[in-house]
Amino acid sequence: MLLEQFGGANGELAAAMQYSIQGLNCDDPERKDLLMDIGTEELSHLEIVGTLARMHLKPMKADRDSAEVDPLIAIAGGGGVGLFNSMGDAWTADYLKITGELDVDLRSNIAAEARAKIVYERLINFCDDPGSKDALQFLMTREITHMKAFTAALESMGKSPFSIGEIPPTPVLVDQYFNDSSGVGDEGETDFRGPWNEGGNWEIVEAPEQGVENLGSSNGKDAPSKKRKTSSKDNYKSRERAS
Ligand SMILES: [Fe+2]
Repeated sequence: MLLEQFGGANGELAAAMQYSIQGLNCDDPERKDLLMDIGTEELSHLEIVGTLARMHLKPMKADRDSAEVDPLIAIAGGGGVGLFNSMGDAWTADYLKITGELDVDLRSNIAAEARAKIVYERLINFCDDPGSKDALQFLMTREITHMKAFTAALESMGKSPFSIGEIPPTPVLVDQYFNDSSGVGDEGETDFRGPWNEGGNWEIVEAPEQGVENLGSSNGKDAPSKKRKTSSKDNYKSRERAS
């Protein structure tokens, strides 16, 4: 299981490579320093996870019952760690999210730290060895520290949260919420309203397939057919239906 954080998608090698390569590509010296610092720290975490995993895997080398459970590690790997995840899939550079756009990369890093945190939490929950648990608690804590640092770095860039790249989104279309579900049925088809589709500039578009037909000619500026604005009456109705 520990190998998930060694050679897995959200593991320490992936994090170290992602942040270090983002750092090499970064033209902003302040945030480049941040990326290189955390990338280097992740390499030290790779060492911790690798050492921990090796400690637990080593007995496999000699114990037949353990070896039969995981021949890849016992027979091919001699009870050692390899660049595999917990399922035995080989590590791949496809795990890395590197766009060359600093704010986009920082968002990816915040999400990566959140995923790593939850994986460590699950490992802690399945762990009954106090020493290993301590090490995992340390590693899990550092994920939150990194998340805080990446979040602060993103905020300090002073960009509005939905300002990605240079080209602005199409007005009107950007505020439309397409209601793609039927809203009828007993299991999961109920339409719900919340801050993701009501209040502010949100506009609900019903029958979005008809709206899509309009996109080619109007570029979304003309209202698609069958649309309605959100209203307090709608909100009341939706809450009543949801309760
Ligand atoms: Fe991290």
